[in-house]
Amino acid sequence: MSIDRAVQQRYSAASEVAEPGLCCPVDYDPQYLKVIPADVLEKDYGCGDPVSYLQPGERALDLGSGAGKVCFIAAQIVGPSGTVIGVDLNDDMLAVARRAQPEVTRRLGYGNVSFAKARIEDLALDLEFLDRHLDRHPVRCHDDLVRLDELADRLRRDSPLIPDGSVDVVISNCVLNLVAPQRKQDMFAEIARVLRPGGRAVISDIVSDIDVPTAMQADPHLWSGCYSGALQEERFLDGFTRAGLTGLTILKREARPWETVGDVEFRSVTVAAYKPPTREDTPTRHAVVYRGPFAAVTIDTGLQMIRGRVVPISPDDLRAILAGPYVEHTYILEAELADPEPQQPSSTLPFGLSALSVRASTPGRIRYRPSTESAACVQPSGTCGC
Ligand SMILES: C[S@@+](CC[C@H](N)C(=O)[O-])C[C@H]1O[C@@H](n2cnc3c(N)ncnc32)[C@H](O)[C@@H]1O
Repeated sequence: MSIDRAVQQRYSAASEVAEPGLCCPVDYDPQYLKVIPADVLEKDYGCGDPVSYLQPGERALDLGSGAGKVCFIAAQIVGPSGTVIGVDLNDDMLAVARRAQPEVTRRLGYGNVSFAKARIEDLALDLEFLDRHLDRHPVRCHDDLVRLDELADRLRRDSPLIPDGSVDVVISNCVLNLVAPQRKQDMFAEIARVLRPGGRAVISDIVSDIDVPTAMQADPHLWSGCYSGALQEERFLDGFTRAGLTGLTILKREARPWETVGDVEFRSVTVAAYKPPTREDTPTRHAVVYRGPFAAVTIDTGLQMIRGRVVPISPDDLRAILAGPYVEHTYILEAELADPEPQQPSSTLPFGLSALSVRASTPGRIRYRPSTESAACVQPSGTCGC
């Protein structure tokens, strides 16, 4: 049996009869569970709690929403001014979630959740639209297959289910491991695509301490049970950085493995990853001072920051710092500009300063003042709201 089919069958069955021990269910804040019907509550196949990191008013996307528990909790945290979209591949899981939706809306007094059918590695393609099309135009020959591929490409391009940059936060609970190895990087790329610049992903998933052996990867039951598709912990983090996300932060890492199979330890982690603001949003001519407590640190762009030292930074560094968790550890400075003539030969100045007039009484020295970006960016929670 293929891994795809094994995942479909396992979660169809688990949508009808709760399967205890499938993943490692979580203790969510009980205040959010009161409005959720029992049918949903018992079908809890997560392994962490990404949802508690949401903020009121945010547009959240839940990857692999299953019976909808995480979405219905998220609905209450983002509140009536926010929205939640749950995406799942499995019709039976979607049916459980949609059945519960009117009741949750009635109990909350507002409805801000919707569910859609898509693969999380291909979030532009609306699979329910495709299903309806296939009902009317079944694939009978190779030409039909070619036409279907063309339609899918048109749909992705002209009416993407989840458009580029349309989401503030992507969350997911115990799903990324289920995506086929050859599509895993597409999945990370999709997370980066749908996030708005400055948005973030908060993901709980199962990771392994060493690479899962090939024989174990070929076992459909272990795969659908959230073991075999788990990425080795560092590779999991690399997936986000390779997709262009920065500021990778491990928010929670279970000390004890959830399970040990053969030689391999499987444990739950919750990580955050940030999408840098776009180039246009970011001014240049900045420097950074790292506040400590470490003597020096390196961020995902490769920039090394030395505690207490004024380090000129590139636009990419600035975008990465403004995107998220680095900002609270830094002072961001801006070169003082003077009119009308540069006081320093422009060829020696860093990062685009050559075109500017820079105030400096000593040749070779740039004077910086605090930048408004850093002050505006740090919120009481320590997160970046820009
Ligand atoms: C382990 S369950 C987690 C469900 C839910 N997040 C929770 O916390 O209860 C995995 C869910 O992901 C869905 N799924 C698996 N692979 C998927 C894919 N490639 N695209 C979309 N959904 C997928 C399954 O149908 C299932 O509902």
